[in-house]
Amino acid sequence: MEKFVIRGGNKLKGKVRISGAKNGVLAMMPATILCPGVFTLRNVPNLRDVWTMSRLLNDMGIYSELNGDELFIDSRNIHSFEAPYEHVKKMRASFYVLGPLVGRFGKAKVSLPGGCAWGPRPVDLHLKGLEKLGAEISIEGGYVIAKANKLIGTRIHLDVPSVGATGNIMMAAVLAKGTTIISNAAIEPEITALAKFLIKMGAKIHGVGTNILEIEGVDSLNQTNEVVIPDRIEAGTMLIAGAITEGTVTIEGCNPYHITSVISKMEEAGCNFEIRDDKVTVQIDGPPKPVDITTAVYPGFPTDMQSQWVAFMLKANGVSKITETIYPDRFKHIPELQRLGAQIEMSDNTAIVYGGKKLSGATVMGSDLRGSAALVLGALIAEGTTEVLRIYHIDRGYESIDRKLRALGADIERVPTDEF
Ligand code: UD1
Repeated sequence: MEKFVIRGGNKLKGKVRISGAKNGVLAMMPATILCPGVFTLRNVPNLRDVWTMSRLLNDMGIYSELNGDELFIDSRNIHSFEAPYEHVKKMRASFYVLGPLVGRFGKAKVSLPGGCAWGPRPVDLHLKGLEKLGAEISIEGGYVIAKANKLIGTRIHLDVPSVGATGNIMMAAVLAKGTTIISNAAIEPEITALAKFLIKMGAKIHGVGTNILEIEGVDSLNQTNEVVIPDRIEAGTMLIAGAITEGTVTIEGCNPYHITSVISKMEEAGCNFEIRDDKVTVQIDGPPKPVDITTAVYPGFPTDMQSQWVAFMLKANGVSKITETIYPDRFKHIPELQRLGAQIEMSDNTAIVYGGKKLSGATVMGSDLRGSAALVLGALIAEGTTEVLRIYHIDRGYESIDRKLRALGADIERVPTDEF
């Protein structure tokens, strides 16, 4: 096991390169199931979740190899249609193999993901959508068993614009007979990027980037190469790291349009921005003003930035309210931030943050990816030394966050530990 040892108080300064989007590549890798071929994905982040997806695909007969930021994938020899619990329990995105397996082979056995550290995360919309396309679905021994002869295009309205359900259903529908319409589809940039990748593979998808996707089924797809979009959550996290320390940080290689909700809230808090092409510089004079946020689907304020915003507001002189509407229980970071001296009260799905109080270093424990990022941000402004345990959570979704923060001037070390 490893932990971070962070001595707070340094202002961050400099430039940092944003990696490819975790949630982008995790949707694209399973899409290669749809067609026997060789693919190269570029701008791929070197993350635990990418390794987990590689291992899962490998067990199915899909060979992959990551060289630098290039991921080579050979999907010509698929021999298994199963995603076992050992992979899915580690990473819910494993569930993305279901749609492409049913779409291409008409059979799949995929473990149900179960709950997660911050509450229930159902997959009913994925299953209902596949059933509407004609798949026969049953649940046996914790597994979803899906069977179909040929999927038939249909109309599918999602009760909520689920990212995963949109991706899974879209991947199943590209090889269906006839036209599928997904309404109230997710419009997160990673879904748009997945649709563009599928189109490059020969799929016919109209309405990309809107919440109504029209998918005309085709008989087969072709191999192709693609560049992964930048990670908007890493981008937002690094901007907050700059602002929370009252430093000046430039993120490079990002898509500023994907983070407008975060930038606009940071502006309300008093941050100054310079935006040019794929670079965004943040700077702030003094501590931020308290600003309330409510998480929402894209282009609203992302739930994946909620915990980092809680940390940011610890620095503000005043009271702010952070309301979580996507995952109402996603607040595992609060008791750990309280160990640093944070004053936060919970009222249902709202965290009320009394900012401006002095934080002091302590040992804290991460229990999910973004919550762990909030602990690192809190540690950057705490007096003294903070140890963040269980950093394997953070390594799931941030490529070398310690190296990147250190290059900006943070005092952060990764050290081996026996503590769990
Ligand atoms: C994806 C992201 C995750 C992000 C989330 C919301 C990936 C790999 N993960 O997760 O980082 O936090 O989007 O932006 O891309 N829901 C249902 N039934 C379903 C599916 C979802 O009710 O079948 C609900 C969920 O409980 C939640 C909401 O829909 O309230 C959004 O979830 P969803 O968009 O599906 O999230 P994920 O795809 O799991």
